Amino acid sequence: MAALELDGIVRRFGDTTAVADVSLRTERNDFLVLLGPSGCGKTTLLRMIAGLLSPTEGRILVDGQDVTTLPPRERDLAMVFQNYALYPHLTVERNLGFGLSVRRTGKEELRRRVDEVAELLDLGPLLRRRPKELSGGQRQRVALGRAMVREPRAFLMDEPLSNLDAKLRASTRTRLISLHRRLDTTFVYVTHDQIDAMTMATKVAVLNHGRIEQFGTPVEIYDEPASAFVAGFMGAPPMNLIPAELGTGPDDGLVLRAPDLEIPLPYRGDPGVREVLVGIRPEHLATAPAGELRGRVDIVENLGSEEIAECEIGGARVSVRGARPIGIAPGDHTTLSVRPEHVHLFARQSGRRLSWEPEPASLLVP
Ligand SMILES: Nc1ncnc2c1ncn2[C@@H]1O[C@H](COP(=O)(O)OP(=O)(O)O)[C@@H](O)[C@H]1O
Ligand SMILES: [Mg+2]
Repeated sequence: MAALELDGIVRRFGDTTAVADVSLRTERNDFLVLLGPSGCGKTTLLRMIAGLLSPTEGRILVDGQDVTTLPPRERDLAMVFQNYALYPHLTVERNLGFGLSVRRTGKEELRRRVDEVAELLDLGPLLRRRPKELSGGQRQRVALGRAMVREPRAFLMDEPLSNLDAKLRASTRTRLISLHRRLDTTFVYVTHDQIDAMTMATKVAVLNHGRIEQFGTPVEIYDEPASAFVAGFMGAPPMNLIPAELGTGPDDGLVLRAPDLEIPLPYRGDPGVREVLVGIRPEHLATAPAGELRGRVDIVENLGSEEIAECEIGGARVSVRGARPIGIAPGDHTTLSVRPEHVHLFARQSGRRLSWEPEPASLLVP
């Protein structure tokens, strides 16, 4: 049985369609990340799961139970908000226990759960403090702890790390990963940050204009993006996307051609589509004497262990990533090489991924 199932969810606000036909299923134990740019419908979707907003169409099931029309308190889910929403006049301890005391949990049970959560989140030394005496990261932990004390069926989080600095974000990610392992509960986590998705998710739904562009594991989404949109969203710097023509070369082999680019592919036959986007991850390009791409280096950025060179290739901007020193300098004319298995193809018109079917040899055009 799916822990969470969204079935044909649509939400309109007047003329705006914030969420357009979203369906997905997750298992218990999944850490689901809803990923996408600002305005793509992430918060709207999460609020519908929480019960704070009703869908215009579709059904929401939790552990097989249809909760679409249930009020939030009957769904047994915990929502952790971006702006923490702690009670300023209560101590950390009272904030943690608040959700339980109003539900008339026994004193001892309350104590046990608050202590357990304080221990898990390292809040022990802070129990007597009030929210204004805490740092941003500490407040964030209290907000999370307050949700955990209730032992809900799932945790719902809307950009919970966005107010934290880079270092604290990284350490909080690690903490969330280990919490998720220990709690054995579904997490649904909304973010526009692809690093959050890569590091924490077991499943990612990439959203664009209220629709799922791709649903899969972080590795599937990184290694086989279903569309140019997903390819350009995952990775920093993202996948290079270069407009090219797909044609045939000598003995019917397929060849990609663009100004200063000619990549022979190990495929034969009629390509079916000519106008494509060639996708190459920055780490899959390397300088080589007889490379398939020729360009000029504009900038080289030093990241410490690696360098990223920004090049211009036939009018397109292309990033190349490699161990430092990368061996090229601004102003250099260089040639770059890519292995054919690292070349992704997308139809230029629709943006959808093209995949190669060896038997019978054909390019699958969705
Ligand atoms: N209460 C509302 N009334 C009207 N439009 C809304 C409302 N809530 C969200 N929207 C619109 O729905 C779209 C998705 O918003 P939202 O879910 O907040 O996106 P995200 O969280 O991905 O940034 C946006 O175009 C937003 O303006
Ligand atoms: Mg939002």
